Formats: sequence, C-alpha cells, structure tokens
Amino acid sequence: MAANKPVYVCSACGNSHPKWNGQCGQCSAWNTLEETNPTLNARKTTARSSAFSSTQSSLTPTNLRARVPPPPRVSTSIDEFDRVLGGGLVEGSAVLVAGDPGAGKSTLLMQAMAALSKSRKVLYASGEESLDQIQLRAERLDVADSDVALVTSNDGPGIAGLMQQMERGSVVVIDSLHAMDAGADSAPGSVAQVKAAASLFIPIAKERGITTLLINHVTKEGGFAGPQLLKHAVDVSLLLQNDTSQGFMRVLRADKNRFGADDEIGLFEMGTKGMMPITNPSELFMAQRAAGAFGTTIFASLEGTRPLLLEVQALVTPTTFGTGRRQATGWDSQRLNMLLAMMGARMGIALGDRDIYLNVAGGLKITDPGMDLAVVLALLSGYLGRPVREGIVAFGEVGLAGEIRGVMRPEARIREAKALGFSTVVCPGFREGKVPPAMAGTVRPLDRVARLMERIDAFLEP
Ligand code: TYD
Ligand code: MG
Repeated sequence: MAANKPVYVCSACGNSHPKWNGQCGQCSAWNTLEETNPTLNARKTTARSSAFSSTQSSLTPTNLRARVPPPPRVSTSIDEFDRVLGGGLVEGSAVLVAGDPGAGKSTLLMQAMAALSKSRKVLYASGEESLDQIQLRAERLDVADSDVALVTSNDGPGIAGLMQQMERGSVVVIDSLHAMDAGADSAPGSVAQVKAAASLFIPIAKERGITTLLINHVTKEGGFAGPQLLKHAVDVSLLLQNDTSQGFMRVLRADKNRFGADDEIGLFEMGTKGMMPITNPSELFMAQRAAGAFGTTIFASLEGTRPLLLEVQALVTPTTFGTGRRQATGWDSQRLNMLLAMMGARMGIALGDRDIYLNVAGGLKITDPGMDLAVVLALLSGYLGRPVREGIVAFGEVGLAGEIRGVMRPEARIREAKALGFSTVVCPGFREGKVPPAMAGTVRPLDRVARLMERIDAFLEP
C-alpha cells in the first residue's frame, strides 16, 4: 500500500474504505466516513517486524495449571449496575459505557463513584462539564459530600499522568472519550482522536490495576465514533438506552463482558435524584397492561438471568390495499414473518390479506426466541377477536414444523409468573415430561402449535 494514501473509517461501525462516500457501504450510515492517515501505524509495523529476527525473548510463558488468583470484584453499590457487570466491577478492567447524550451516563457513574469513594481512591475526569455543573449534579444526587477527586480538562495525556500516580484498585471515570484530546492529529471526537484516547487510558488500566470507565457517546445515526470501534479493546462494553416508550426508563445492557453474561439487563428509572434501580419490573409492566383486550398475551421472558413478564400486543386488521403490511416493534420482523408463514402452514391460519402490527409493550427490545409462542397466541387472539383467558402466561420457541421447543430456564419464568399471580403457564413440555411438582398445577405443556387449535377454548375467551 502506498504509505501516505488516506483511508476512510466509518465512525459508526469502524469499517474502513479506500474511497470517501456519503454513505458507509457496510452499515449504511450517512456522513460517517472520516479521513484517517494510516502512515503512522504503517511505520510502527515496519519497525516492529524487523525485531522478529531476534532469537531472544524476554517473555516467560505460564503453565495453564499454575492457578492465578482472579482479580477482586468491587461492588458499585447499585444492584442493577452490578448485575450487568456480572457481579460488580473487576479491578483493573476497562469498561466502556456507551449511550445517547442525555441517557444518564454521567449521572449513573457519578452515583457509582460516590459509593466507591467510601472504600478507595476515585477520580472523575470530565472534559464535558465545568466543576460547578458536576457539583450541582452531585448535590441533586445527594452525594456532594463524597470523596471523589474531580478534574475538568480535555488534556488526555495530563489525565493519563494522574492515573499513573494512583494506587492499584483505584477507579477512574473518563467523561467522555469524545471530549479528550489525546494528541492524535485531528479534532477531539473524531475517529482517530477517540481511538487514541482509548489506547491512552486502557493500557494504564491494565498495567496499574486501575479500574477505568470510559464514557462513549452514540447516536442511532452513527454521528459519533461508537462502541463498535472500541469494543475489541475493552473488557466490558455496556450500552445505556433511553429509547423505550416509557420516557423515564433506562435500560443498561451488556454488549460484551469478559467477566460475565453478555445478555444481562439492568433497569433504571431516571428520577429527580438520579438513576433509581427498578427492582420489580414485571409489576411495573403488568400495571399498565390492557387487561381483557384481544390481541395481547403475557410473555414470561428471560433477560440474562432475570425473568421478566412482558405484554405482547398484536393488531390484525384487513389490508386496505395490496398485500398486508407487517411491522414489529421490539422484536425481529423476520421472525414475525416466519411465524406468520408457519401459522398458515401448520395451523391453517392464513393472514396474507391482513395488516399485522406486533409490539412489545414497555419498549424493550426482545431477542429471546422464547417469545414465539406468546406471539402466536397474541396473533391468534387478535385474528379471532377473542381475548386470551385471564391468568395465562406463555413462553416457548416455535419451529417451522409447528413444534414447540424448550427454552432457557423454564422454572425461573414459571416462578415469576406464579409470583405475580398468574395461574396458567402455556409452555413447552419439560425434558422427559417431568414438571417440577410445585409447578404441576400451573403448567400447561404443549408440544405443537396445532394443539392450540384443538383446545382453543381453553386458551381464549368465548
Ligand atoms: P446525564 O447523566 O447528564 O446524561 P449523559 O451523561 O448520558 O449525557 O443525564 C442527562 C439527563 O438526565 C438530563 O436531561 C437531566 C436528567 N436528570 C434527571 O432527570 N434527574 C437527575 O437527577 C439528573 C442528575 C439528571
Ligand atoms: Mg454526560
């Protein structure tokens, strides 16, 4: 490659292109390609490869059997945050906290830092806000008396220097990567600068055992250099979402986690005193349920390790023109299409001439295939205009042959349904037909969707 030929990197997905274009060919985002110069990196590689001729190495491998104690975990004192982290922050790890501006990243991290400052040294470096703005927020959060060291600057190397002086086990927040000037030859917030900032702070976190939380802005349009660009370099990548239909609700999701599950979610309510954990989300979702309406079912979902009851809504109306429109909110449209085809073939329910809208109430995005059976039930109820019987909850994956397949942790889902007063759980059969005795009265196992049709009156109101 010619040494000084620029490449164009998409700030949304991180893919590079040889030519500038208005739209990224990979992720289709507009106006996200930024010119970067690969010369620097290229020089570094050449210098390094010449060292490969040496037969000496300063490295000593460790035997797999030699147990190395795992680094300690530190609780943030915020249960929902700890859950998503896989049980607290791992000392010396680099954690990316991404989210739209206004999602509550600074708020959540200030709350966590205030709690952590009781047991260790904490530095909050902000390149976005002034001291008085940060103090004002801390007052609002009732943590203004905490022992958190503040520095307001966008001097990346300066902040890195402060980190170098901190003792092992300290915690640092960088708010945000976009605001930092890390010395790269371009404007703060650009792809090159954000990458440079990340590679300035992450090695210090590792070498010095300083837990480092890096705030990263994202927008759906890919207007900022986003987590896809940095995910490989950090241990944990979290996404704080505020795009649920409930304005106050915030969802913290693990996107990558070297120390825990990457499908955990934490739920918060943005209140007058910051981010408050929502400890009983099923109750919250159930309180607003459209009871007695046709076209809705309760789905016993599992988000990470947490069971959660959600309302699935389906609207089935005659098409006014041409072929039916299909739209799924909070779920995969392709999967909806697949289930519709399956219902036609296996249940004799042809919905080709209907408009179909599917919605997960509350605004959560569900990826659990266990939602299939609840969707089928909601569609059936919506199509026939008959409400699902009171007290019914459903879960189970549905295959193309119309078979109902097992899903993760059915007991946890059934327990949650029972705890919230539901009397009947429609779900796949248990392995070897064994239903736990305590649940026997509640569970109505089904092996095929065709059985729904055979006993329709057991599931739908007349
Ligand atoms: P903030 O943490 O500044 O968001 P981010 O750092 O992700 O950009 O929070 C921004 C929003 O939260 C802002 O619109 C004000 C609101 N907010 C509350 O509703 N309650 C509070 O106690 C605080 C501190 C903020
Ligand atoms: Mg902020």
